[in-house]
Amino acid sequence: MPTAQTETTSAIDLNWVRAQFPSLSQTVNGQPAVFLDGPGGTQVSQRVIEAISDYLRQNNANSGGAYATSRKTDAMIASARTAMADFLGCAADEIVFGPNMTTLTYAMSRSIGRELDAGDEIVLTHLDHDANISPWHALEERGVTVRMADIHEEDCTLDMEDVARQITDRTKLVAVGYASNAVGTINDVQEIVRLAHARGALAYIDAVHYAPHGPIDVRALGCDFLVCSTYKFFGPHMGVLFGKWELLQRLQPYKVRANTNAIPNRWEWGTLNHECIAGIGACVDYLADLGRHVNPSVASRRAAILAAYAAIHKHEHELTTALIRGLLEISGLKLYGIRDPQRFGRRCPTVAVRISGFTPLELAKRLGECGIFTWDGNYYALNLTERLDVEKDGGFLRIGIAHYNTAEEIERLLAALKEIVAA
Ligand SMILES: Cc1ncc(COP(=O)(O)O)c(C=O)c1O
Repeated sequence: MPTAQTETTSAIDLNWVRAQFPSLSQTVNGQPAVFLDGPGGTQVSQRVIEAISDYLRQNNANSGGAYATSRKTDAMIASARTAMADFLGCAADEIVFGPNMTTLTYAMSRSIGRELDAGDEIVLTHLDHDANISPWHALEERGVTVRMADIHEEDCTLDMEDVARQITDRTKLVAVGYASNAVGTINDVQEIVRLAHARGALAYIDAVHYAPHGPIDVRALGCDFLVCSTYKFFGPHMGVLFGKWELLQRLQPYKVRANTNAIPNRWEWGTLNHECIAGIGACVDYLADLGRHVNPSVASRRAAILAAYAAIHKHEHELTTALIRGLLEISGLKLYGIRDPQRFGRRCPTVAVRISGFTPLELAKRLGECGIFTWDGNYYALNLTERLDVEKDGGFLRIGIAHYNTAEEIERLLAALKEIVAA
């Protein structure tokens, strides 16, 4: 996260931001809803809603037809691809659309697996979501060995020495998350890519959790693949994969014969979710608009997206500081992950806690009754909840801040938790 920019970045205009998201004005049991469930999926802006319904109203067609609505559909998909290329810092033909990150990763693991032999190795980490674990374990049926890099239990950061140890000359792929969807840790992805490449292995990055919180630059990272899900960063329920052009060209997808061999279409099978792709273009444009709102002098869409993330980071950093300070005052509360404000540049505003005497589900239910939306359980970060031995006791309570959250909402959450504990 760009901590260095925090001092100079313009503050986010929360009134402007919140006015873009119609769902934020809902109430539950007479109380304004507080959306602290962003890691499970964020809310969408009005322009995303409009883009989806406008597409269905005016341009709904299959692609590749010789008539107006089909041509408009093709143009819309091309434009959304360019938007995602600006978002990730790559070329438009390196963008692959798919139903979600998990499905895209299974597709890629099957294709990469065609090039692997018995004895080849894949390195994963205990910090990862299962969508970046099980698709790679599936290759064990080809005789591939999976090795797991461990974490430092005390702050839930990756043990980089262990990462380096696990990567050997037999390693063919290192798959790692950019940030943990459970405890918020941001990994040193650039260094992990470097370690992978030094041994001739591919680097596959799961940026699903990082994408709503920090800017992504696939060229600067040097990764071979990076996946994200637009529903986690204010867009519709879809997944997006970046693949280096030469890899999308070299690897062999399992595809129908009628699919062309053109890049990236050979990786997009069947009919895509066109209305959601229309929403993806609008979602990137929302972020660019936010960037222009905080910094009207930005020139390109990419520069506007970067300006948006600088403002998002500053705001989320302030809320995270207040949240963690308040949580640590609650008796019986254990926080999993980085808690030292000096090191907040290495974490997302996603906070996992347990409170003695309560299961995470009980806490989430009680908060839900007050209109405060959090999550409980393992959120598919199953390796981590097992590694920390909390799986059998209901996992964690996860509080996930997004840039549309307010300081008042954090105060409401803290007050509600304190009341639950005191009762
Ligand atoms: C870090 C991380 N990776 C992967 C996924 C899976 O994403 P999708 O639902 O798009 O398959 C999630 C979903 O919560 C996630 O948080």
